[in-house]
Amino acid sequence: MAVIETQGLSKVYVRDVIDTEYGRLRIRLTGRKTVALDNLNLDVNKGEIFGLLGPNGAGKTTTIKILMGIHFASSGTAKIMGKPLGDRAVKSRIGFLPENPYFYDYLKGWEFLDFYGQLYGIDKRKRRAKVEELLALVGLTHAANIPLRGYSKGMNQRIGLAQALMNDPDIVFLDEPQSGLDPLGRKEVRDLILGLRKQGKTVFFSSHILSDAEMICDRVAILFKGKLRSVGRLSELLSSSVTEWEIVLRDVDERFINRWRDRLERVVESEGEWWLISKSQDLTDAIIDAATRDGGKLSALTPRRQSLEDYFISEVKGS
Ligand SMILES: Nc1ncnc2c1ncn2[C@@H]1O[C@H](COP(=O)(O)OP(=O)(O)OP(=O)(O)O)[C@@H](O)[C@H]1O
Ligand SMILES: [Mg+2]
Repeated sequence: MAVIETQGLSKVYVRDVIDTEYGRLRIRLTGRKTVALDNLNLDVNKGEIFGLLGPNGAGKTTTIKILMGIHFASSGTAKIMGKPLGDRAVKSRIGFLPENPYFYDYLKGWEFLDFYGQLYGIDKRKRRAKVEELLALVGLTHAANIPLRGYSKGMNQRIGLAQALMNDPDIVFLDEPQSGLDPLGRKEVRDLILGLRKQGKTVFFSSHILSDAEMICDRVAILFKGKLRSVGRLSELLSSSVTEWEIVLRDVDERFINRWRDRLERVVESEGEWWLISKSQDLTDAIIDAATRDGGKLSALTPRRQSLEDYFISEVKGS
């Protein structure tokens, strides 16, 4: 079941026009239009971790801001939980971590979360329990009494994540949740997101850190210059992308290998085994057939896939 749907969603930003006179000098800047989002059609299913990926300026934040009702679409429509954007009941079921959150930094960690709890109308006792639970979840129990201005970038990001979970939302929107985090922090956020899926929540997050998305996303969408380039399960997007095969043979002699050597990328002999790298499926099949006919044995065959990173680069290259 789709819990987030967009149809033909587009956003054109128009820069302000400046038209001023300084004495005899007239300065005029005409409004420049940026098509930040161009006809986006997306369906996100209940309970999935969905990654919105793309390089800087691709339109990820714009998409999330429209879904959150912070910006209005220039055209197209979107629904969350089957309701048009802006539905209050739906809003109470949503959590949101903005890209560069600005929080009241004079509040202590627990006060900050408590404040959000009040905004959601959670009663005092429940709020206290929730604040404690979330501080522990994001590893900030020790910093509960420190004002946010004393938080590091990573701590800020984590308290932001806790804030997004204060109302126990069904759908969580996270704009670059891993930004500003070191590798350990990134892993913690990944685990946290996986934990949310376990609880049946839907997670919609944006990232340009592809390797993070690769490890946890059920599906991804790749956005480039406001346009959707591809969407699907990572395994599907990458399935056509086996770039080379590593063949390990034993009980074959050098004469056999020499028959193929010119067409192979690499040939290495080690401890009685031949490691071959082939760039073609046909060649791989032919070598394995011939080797087994000659009494050789296939010790291992490993298709090497493109990483998401490679796929991403090949997708956006030349655009
Ligand atoms: N308020 C705005 N006014 C004018 N142009 C804007 C505004 N916000 C974004 N843009 C432009 O829209 C395009 C998409 O921006 P957006 O912030 O959605 O990208 P993004 O994918 O989130 O990038 P990043 O990875 O850097 O966060 C960019 O070209 C950006 O300059
Ligand atoms: Mg952004």
